[in-house]
Amino acid sequence: MVSNEELHVIGQSILHGEVYVSGAKNAALPILCASLLTPETIVLKNVPELNDVKTVIELLKQFGVKVSKNPKEIIIQSNDINNTEASYDLVKTMRASILVLGPLITRFGEAKVSLPGGCSIGQRPIDQHIKCLKAMGAEIQIEHGFVIAKSKRLKGTYIKPDMITVTGTENLMMAATLAKGQTILDNAACEPEIVDLANFLIKMGAKINGHGTNRIKIDGVDYLGGADYKISPDRIEAGTFMCALAATSGSITLLDVNPLEMTATLKKLHEAGLQIEIGNNWLKCNMYKRPNPVNINTSEYPGLATDMQAQFMAVNTIANGTSFIKENIFENRYMHVPELKRLGANIIIDGNNSIIKGVNYLSGTIVKATDLRASASLVIAALAAKGETRIESIYHLDRGYEKMEKKLSMLGANIKRISKRIAE
Ligand code: EPU
Repeated sequence: MVSNEELHVIGQSILHGEVYVSGAKNAALPILCASLLTPETIVLKNVPELNDVKTVIELLKQFGVKVSKNPKEIIIQSNDINNTEASYDLVKTMRASILVLGPLITRFGEAKVSLPGGCSIGQRPIDQHIKCLKAMGAEIQIEHGFVIAKSKRLKGTYIKPDMITVTGTENLMMAATLAKGQTILDNAACEPEIVDLANFLIKMGAKINGHGTNRIKIDGVDYLGGADYKISPDRIEAGTFMCALAATSGSITLLDVNPLEMTATLKKLHEAGLQIEIGNNWLKCNMYKRPNPVNINTSEYPGLATDMQAQFMAVNTIANGTSFIKENIFENRYMHVPELKRLGANIIIDGNNSIIKGVNYLSGTIVKATDLRASASLVIAALAAKGETRIESIYHLDRGYEKMEKKLSMLGANIKRISKRIAE
């Protein structure tokens, strides 16, 4: 027998109250990996309790990293590394595991990291990580399903990935911190999570400039030290709660957010009809009407994040008109569409384009979560739907949302986690 869990949602509750936004998953993962760059103690605060965070901690432990926790912080010590191999078992469950490649090769001169393999949202190759690390002097072979990298001290140089890649930028920035000389990383991703990682590395003693722009300059140093750092808020979690409000109605306040990092999302939510009051670290939102349809064209930051596409689609399914969505980052990020259709949505897909004709109401049924953001879109749709929706396979949700159903319950949603035993 294996255990599985479902969410049971009875839709159309009005949302009210305050909700704290957790630390950003996509900042926590690279920052945890960056702790491999120093033998000194790292103390991290605001690390979200997520399955992806557990996976990366397991991975670090496989290298000999000591990790301890108290309710407020995670303490990491990488002074006794006895292994530089990242096994398939962990890498296959989380592609972000590739983020150990840069730190391991630059600090220890070797790394063996399993290739991540298939992914539900797209092929997601790592060729650009490899191309640029090779340009810095690493010898890299792909053998028996592993990336096997060796190097004397990496050399700073000019590198330019062929496309903008978030984890690629992070891997290369980490690798360059301990390289000899200056690295110029062109075509860099500008996401706030890159800036968070850079700020953490700077606290460790790295010399980095230009983070948050497309050209990052890193002057390699001989040694990085310990640091105490607080992870920034999760802009995608915040946007997800706001989409939930747009699809239902009520009044909620998000606390511990950084509105400055959410400009594209806030603009679209305003277009959808949300009234938003913006504070320095809070957002007060009201919604008392059927949402307007909003067109979405995903792009790299500062454009609208692909990680918000599925949630906006859920809102559009019940909007008072037709909307168009174009997914430009991943080739297969419409896995939520067949499930939204089971709830009564009217969506036509043509390649990476989709047309959503808003329906008067969705009606609850059984749906299956297929990836992290697809799960979030199903939760939003279920909150909007008439009657009961059961969302299966919610382990995807637990990878990237901390206590989502608890936070939504506190806001007045009728949502419960049910454990189900299934025969193997
Ligand atoms: N790409 C390549 N070759 C590479 C690297 C990327 O072809 O070597 C392509 C990808 O296949 C994709 C595009 O470039 O088509 C952009 O991918 P990117 O590398 O930026 O994505 P990622 O770094 O693998 C991160 C986030 C994703 C988020 C994307 C885009 C983390 C841990 N993951 O992935 O987050 O969707 O950037 O913003 O930071 C999520 O949280 O749900 C999630 C999937």
